[in-house]
Amino acid sequence: MTTSAMLEVAAAAEQTGRIESAAAPDGPLLKGTPVLYAPTDTGVTAVWGLSRPALGWIEYGPTSDLGLKLNSDPMGFVPHSDRVIKLRLHGLQPGTRYWWRVVNAPLKGGPPEYSALYSFKTLDPAGSTTRFAVWNDTHDQADTIGQLNRLTNAEPPDFLVWNGDVSNNIESPEVIPGLYVSPSKADLASGAPIFLVRGNHDVRGLWANRLTEYVDFPTQRSFCAFRSGPLAAVILDTGEDKPDRHPSFLGVAAFEPLIEEQAHWLKRTLQLPAFKNAPFRLAFCHIPLRGKIENPVDYDRGGFDLYSRRGREAWHNALVQWGVQAIISGHTHSWAYLPETAEHPYAQVVGGGPSLKNAVVITGMASPTELRLVIRDLTGKELQYILLLPKAS
Ligand SMILES: [Fe+2]
Ligand SMILES: [Fe+2]
Repeated sequence: MTTSAMLEVAAAAEQTGRIESAAAPDGPLLKGTPVLYAPTDTGVTAVWGLSRPALGWIEYGPTSDLGLKLNSDPMGFVPHSDRVIKLRLHGLQPGTRYWWRVVNAPLKGGPPEYSALYSFKTLDPAGSTTRFAVWNDTHDQADTIGQLNRLTNAEPPDFLVWNGDVSNNIESPEVIPGLYVSPSKADLASGAPIFLVRGNHDVRGLWANRLTEYVDFPTQRSFCAFRSGPLAAVILDTGEDKPDRHPSFLGVAAFEPLIEEQAHWLKRTLQLPAFKNAPFRLAFCHIPLRGKIENPVDYDRGGFDLYSRRGREAWHNALVQWGVQAIISGHTHSWAYLPETAEHPYAQVVGGGPSLKNAVVITGMASPTELRLVIRDLTGKELQYILLLPKAS
């Protein structure tokens, strides 16, 4: 709610003699719980929702005593908002654990309010090992997200890849915080920092272009590359599951140029020593680049892509030349493992669906000698085990 809208509510309450609960004048300033996005070896972005206008800052430090404070944004403001604050910590040490909490205070003065105390670790490009987890296609299913969070935090990873379709449809900006910041049954800040991979349902809806107010990406783009220990990974954006011209997109889709741009970016980026010579090489993208069955799609009769032919045609050569070992995706709502073939010399791993029955968590554990990928259901039962050996540099 904007400040002027709050004044209107207060004026209406005076007239009627009642306090409208929508104004929530006495509840906590922090709405739900915070979240960390876009980890790198030296930074991470905290995002948190507000129930009404407030100032906000981060207290952090290398021990639970904290001791450091970030209360200015890049534009010279003390962070403040009536609905969300997004603030990036810079200048951190690689591979280092930091404790942190967010603090809010009323705009017109008043006591500060503190979140719970959390901790996270910056990425460590020079580390000898790394562990990660992947969720996909949660589609606003609170129970599934709660179970994924519980299972994942039992063996905390260095980072979490949320591999698309967090949303169903971003038809109003108001739905975004409950999806991407503070889902009802999981405190995302209690887990690892998140790389968000956009799925077709994260770019769908007239207000999907407001998503970046509530999430962050390491390079301010929806694709990136990073090192974590012996693993080099690229995150790619497969966009929508139909051509941009499809009438259901109301003319706002421009993902085909974005796919082309990523093709050029891949060629440049994968030549950098940190990526070119990495022992293990993975790509994450929401829509798989390979399908179990690859039939033609009739988009005029309700058809949509179960694999991204557009993405594969644009990225295949650069990825194969790099030596990508596996593509990790979601989208089909049915977990799958397609081993590499002569035509497609990389495995395709696909996560499950949004229901408690179909959801899976994919974990990766890389050491100097092997990368183990495991697909588990929500009971923890192992469904698939994939062993990758290091590439020659
Ligand atoms: Fe989905
Ligand atoms: Fe999808």
